[in-house]
Order: sequence, then structure tokens, then C-alpha cells
Amino acid sequence: MTVRINPRLTEISISGIRQFSNQLVNYPDAINLTIGQPDFPTPDEVKEGAIRAINENKTGYTHNAGLIDLRHTVNEFFTNKYGFSYDPESEIIITNGASQAIDIIFRTILEEGDEVILPAPIYTGYVPIIKLLGATPVFLDTTDTGFQPSAERLASLITDKTKAVLFNFPSNPTGVAIEQAQMDELAEVLATHDVFTISDEIYSENTFFRKHCSFGAYPELREKLFLVHGLSKSHSMTGWRIGFLMADKEWMQHCIKIQQYNAICASVPSQYAAIEALTTCQDTPAEMNKAYIERRNYVYRRLLDMGLEVTEPTGAFYIFPSIEKFGMTSFEFATRLLKEAGVAAVPGSAFTQYGEGYLRISYAYSMEHLEEGLNRMEKFIASL
Ligand SMILES: Cc1ncc(COP(=O)(O)O)c(C=O)c1O
Repeated sequence: MTVRINPRLTEISISGIRQFSNQLVNYPDAINLTIGQPDFPTPDEVKEGAIRAINENKTGYTHNAGLIDLRHTVNEFFTNKYGFSYDPESEIIITNGASQAIDIIFRTILEEGDEVILPAPIYTGYVPIIKLLGATPVFLDTTDTGFQPSAERLASLITDKTKAVLFNFPSNPTGVAIEQAQMDELAEVLATHDVFTISDEIYSENTFFRKHCSFGAYPELREKLFLVHGLSKSHSMTGWRIGFLMADKEWMQHCIKIQQYNAICASVPSQYAAIEALTTCQDTPAEMNKAYIERRNYVYRRLLDMGLEVTEPTGAFYIFPSIEKFGMTSFEFATRLLKEAGVAAVPGSAFTQYGEGYLRISYAYSMEHLEEGLNRMEKFIASL
């Protein structure tokens, strides 16, 4: 007998972001612009919330869905901000980061042969799970529509096999936040088809100069909607592993089983910390956004001055210039940029083939760090 692993895993590789950033150990002097996490410390009140819980021995398992107080807090937070509401008793699960919420959703709804439509370029965390479950990703090209998904194109991609359509706005990797009018058109298409909508809104609090538009604000979608949120980005809590999954109780009664057998519950000190984040630290994201906006303006201007075509970001902390005109693949470009100029940025091809010809730069770094990285990049481009 020959033992073997699940063959679907052999089709899945380590994310292109990691593949690239793993090379960085060989270039200790490189300016790293690859990391997708805030460069601010977690707020003190949040840390104290966790320390208090530990000192009070609040360290045992919680309900599989998480602390009921936290679930109430989550509901209040999002109701106040975006007007939608989920029942804390039966429609909210506290997960180990948005990543686990995404995994739970796909494992709850996907069957072999199903299709999931995703606007592309898209974050690396969805396609591997879809494939692992024997389903197929179908990409909706956004490269010629300012990285906003066209409703007409969405309608043309929906088939009998389509189980879900996933959105992630503000977007990793493009930094584009969706416009209300665009979302209205998408919602109209979604409401007239028998498909789930999944919206990963992890960057909702990092939306610049406008209010975040949420798919949660469309009552006609609610019945078949899964919302993903979390604190990794909004409160600089990537290592605390707190995400929020919200959906109608019809589906959540099944999602909770996956949570139960996979994780039991999210980290308990982190859950207490999360209550502080959503109550005492409501202003934290706006504070961080001030810095992100200053950096965004600077990086955007520098890239334009280098002669690059680039869409102005309106959220998250990424910018996605085109490097197509240099006639290299994005992997070649990023590799040469690292080796010859000592700057690390993620090749766009890490975000599906629709990211080919682009480079993802994270500006979750200090101005000095960004300035040095962009000076080096400018010289490199001038040498091409
Ligand atoms: C779009 C998107 N969704 C989900 C995640 C994962 O978030 P978490 O750390 O909460 O698991 C990330 C992390 O970069 C992301 O960019």
C-alpha cells in the first residue's frame, strides 16, 4: 500500500507573497515593502484588556461562537457604523482571524464542482481553499475597469454552477475601495441570482475620505450573505488572531460545527482584548489612517514621477502600479528590483494571472523607510 496525501494539496503552492518575502533573508540590507500589516503597536487599552483577563484567570474555553459580550459588542459596533445587524446569539462567530472565517464559509457552502466568482487581481487567501474543496475559482477581470468589478461582467459569468461571489473591498492588493454606485449595480445582479455573496471587509476601517460601503447594507442580499471582518488591520492586531464572521442563522447553525471541530473557540485573552478594541479604541483606525493617507499621497506622487501608471488607492495600505511597459514578468521585475536595487515588493502575479504586469507595494511603513525604498526604485527604473 502506498500512503499519499490529499492530491488536491499538490496543486496548491505557498502563497506568492511568502515565496517572495522568504527570499529576503538573503538580502539583509533590502528595504522591505512587502508586509501587509500595520506598523503601529497594538493600543495599550487593548493589551491591558488581555492582561486583565489573564490575571483574572479568564483563560478557559468560551462558547464556540465566542464570548457573548464580545458578540454583542461586535453587533453594536457594526450596527452603529454601517446599519446592519446580526443576532449575537445565533448569527456571529468570533474566529481566529479573518482567515478562519473565510475557511469556515467555504467549507460550509462548497461542494465539488461548484464555482466561485472572484474579482481579480485578488488576495491570495481564497483560491487555495476553494481548490482544496474541489471547487473552481472563476475570475472577473477588473484590470480595465479601475479595479472595480463590472456588474455586467459579473452577470455574464454566473452559471448554474456558481455557488458564490466573493468581494474584498477595500482591496488587497489594489488599495481600491468600491464606489457606492458600483456596489448598487453589483447588488442588483446578486439579488436576482441564487448565489451566496461573501464579502471580506477586513479593511473597512481603512477607507480614505469616504465612508466604507458594505454589502451588509443591502437588505435584499442579507439572506445569502456572509460578512468577514476582523481586528488585524483596523487595530494593528495581526498576531492576536481575532476575526468576525456574520451571516444569517440558517447558515450559521452549520458554520458553528466547523468552528467547534476545528478550533473550539478563538483565543480567549484576545477576545477580551477585542472588546476593548471595539469600545475604548474606536478612534484608533482614524488615527492610523492619518498616517496612511500621508504615506499614500507621497508614494502615489513618487510613482507618478517615475512615469508609472498607477490607480490612486482609496483604502487599505497597498498601491499597485503597472510595470508592464518594462517588458518583464512581474516576478522578473520584482526579483531584479530586489537583487539590483535592494527593494522588496510583491510581484502582481501572486494575486492571480490578472495581477501580471503589476507590483504590490505596501506603505504600512515609516516615511523614512518609504523614501529610501522609492529612491532606490527610482534609480533602478532609470537604469532600465
Ligand atoms: C483581504 C484579506 N483578508 C484576510 C486577511 C487575513 O486576515 P487575518 O489576519 O485576520 O486572518 C488578509 C491579510 O492580509 C487580507 O489582506
